Amino acid sequence: MTYPAAAPRFTGQPVTRVDGRLKVTGAATYAGDNGFADLAHGVLVCSTVGGGRVAGIDSAAAQRHPGVIRVITDFGGVTLPYDPRQIAAFGQPVAVVVADTLEAAVHAAGLVDVRYDATEPTTDIDSPRAVAEPGSSARVADYERGDADTALRAAAVVTDMEYSLARNNHNPMELPATVARWDGDRLTVWDKTQGITSSQRAYAKAFGMTPDRVDVISPFVGGAFGSAGKTWPNALLAAFAARQVGRPVKLTLSRKQFYSVVGYRPVSKHRLAIGADRSGRIGAIVHEARVENSRYDGFEDNVTEVPRFLYSSPNMRSVYRSVHLDVNPPTYMRGPGTTSGAFTMESAMDDLAFRLGMDPIELRRRNEPSRDESEDLPFSTRRLTECFARGADVFGWSRRNPAPRSTREGDLLIGMGTAAATYHALASPCTVSVRMNPDGTADVATGASDMGPGTYTSMTQVAADALGLPMQRVRFSLGDSRMPQAPIHGGSQTMASVGSGVMNAAAMLRDRFIRTAVVDPGSPLSGLRPDQVTVADGRVYATGDPRRGEYYRDMLRRKGWGPLDAEETWTPNDAEYERFSMHGYGAVFAEVAVDERLGTTRVRRVFAVYDAGRIINPMLAHSQAIGGMVGGIGMALLEATELDHRDGRIVNANMADYLVPVNADITALDAEFLAGEDLVTDPLGVKGLAELVFVGVPAAVANAVFNATGRRVTDLPITLDKLL
Ligand code: MOS
Repeated sequence: MTYPAAAPRFTGQPVTRVDGRLKVTGAATYAGDNGFADLAHGVLVCSTVGGGRVAGIDSAAAQRHPGVIRVITDFGGVTLPYDPRQIAAFGQPVAVVVADTLEAAVHAAGLVDVRYDATEPTTDIDSPRAVAEPGSSARVADYERGDADTALRAAAVVTDMEYSLARNNHNPMELPATVARWDGDRLTVWDKTQGITSSQRAYAKAFGMTPDRVDVISPFVGGAFGSAGKTWPNALLAAFAARQVGRPVKLTLSRKQFYSVVGYRPVSKHRLAIGADRSGRIGAIVHEARVENSRYDGFEDNVTEVPRFLYSSPNMRSVYRSVHLDVNPPTYMRGPGTTSGAFTMESAMDDLAFRLGMDPIELRRRNEPSRDESEDLPFSTRRLTECFARGADVFGWSRRNPAPRSTREGDLLIGMGTAAATYHALASPCTVSVRMNPDGTADVATGASDMGPGTYTSMTQVAADALGLPMQRVRFSLGDSRMPQAPIHGGSQTMASVGSGVMNAAAMLRDRFIRTAVVDPGSPLSGLRPDQVTVADGRVYATGDPRRGEYYRDMLRRKGWGPLDAEETWTPNDAEYERFSMHGYGAVFAEVAVDERLGTTRVRRVFAVYDAGRIINPMLAHSQAIGGMVGGIGMALLEATELDHRDGRIVNANMADYLVPVNADITALDAEFLAGEDLVTDPLGVKGLAELVFVGVPAAVANAVFNATGRRVTDLPITLDKLL
């Protein structure tokens, strides 16, 4: 129990990034910026076949190259997720060249001669040789309520289509980089990671040691989108190489290697059918998904969640099949699974609305569930209908002509589309240390990560409010395994988890000052009850009588405490996950212009309204929202990782051929957040933003393309060939 703090001064305010200056001046230190006088450089040699085994490696020429320290071809001593002599996928690391300079290592890597006993890989999800198996996690287990197939056959109006989503790679600006150094049997890694603790455990496991012998340091991450959520072989091999050569080693993946060594959003194929009566009431939903997977380290993408619960339907059946292929493992990426599931569901809803001759927003309103029917739970908060109402208003939805191909400007066909967004609200335990220094400043620390959303800033806001300090008097640190444990920076859970942890630990320390003051005869607050005391601007004072009080620093001095520390663990109430369905929601609107003769699609504007719970920093939240829109436009129109199925190579593993949106592709983006909070989810009332702001965008764009052209494109990305 904590005593009431003063009204929030910083949370809810659009404060600028506390680390903004560090970043724009280049002073922020990313993994690859670290170095030592004796630093050696590691470069991976990756397989040029997609299956089979390594028959032999001739490294003599590479070894003779000036500056080369060692060519490592035997990975005995590090446990990788696969047998390094067997080729599980094209581009798998088979050797590491370590040299005094990066240039020598890169050149020598090209001199390593690897011979293979190659076999033909199976990398096409539609190959007759591809084996589809049920997933192993409960989340993707076969599901049915009612009798969906019978109800679908009986439905008056049906949409029943196949969907195909391309593989996507994350492509953040920063490449995966690791600097590893051994001091005796202790390992220190300066790593690009979203998970300090998970990374520490991964290194410990790979080298068969306890996690306390590994320090992971990662104060800044230059974008990741999920790609740095796991510790991939390149990072483990950097540490292995450092141990082999007895020097610190830096290993940075090339952009090309990034595609074959790190995971990606898997290819997914779907059948999604919805049956409704003439009034638009949904009676049946059938969802059958097949998702690309590797043969090891299986990853199951959460594509089944959205169709199961987003709208009311008495009958619903969904199946998930993992298709195991000779590919490197897929992983979390921007709204993992949820985005793919939402694209199919929200495209189908648009198609159903068209077949019914009904407004797509009205169709959704008529099927708004009163509880989560997949889990049979009430919603903590759900304001999807309000999101659509507000969004329609601001966007000007009433100006949309529902007839496809009805709006034209010369060669351009103009269309508007909308789609819902949702993402589950997650929280995990987080431990935070807080120190009040003798000068009245505070240090707050936890081993969290900040890959770009502004964790440094939002946590400083939360800590400042909980401590009753100005923001400039709070230093928030993260990104070091020697700090208390925080959860992985993924699944949109950082604000809920780390934010609650920071608030909790800071409030505990503040309350210790309050409790001490009211019983201390030397304090002007002596004799008051704790709940008659307020803290603001670093000063503890009688509520309603600010003259009666004292500064934290004066209390510390009088008590002779030096600094005062607290360390607290906040744990979410697990019972809430069993009692409530907790999700963020949103309504996304897009307007596109499609050139009828060229087939090119331009997104003219996107606007979205989100129900994301309490917003800690509206400026950062808005930035996150429009960032999600840029990513969503990429997925809708441009992004596709292409494999040559003859040998499994990724043919466009570079940023010239893998297209992402650039400034010229992006026009007017804007977003709003409904006021309010969700106090079931976590004490801060937040529901998570990162994935939510991405999820609805691809379907909104595709639905706008349909409205513009009359073409229902169900395979992403929507390239011009599909519109000619
Ligand atoms: Mo996010 S895809 O969980 O980094």
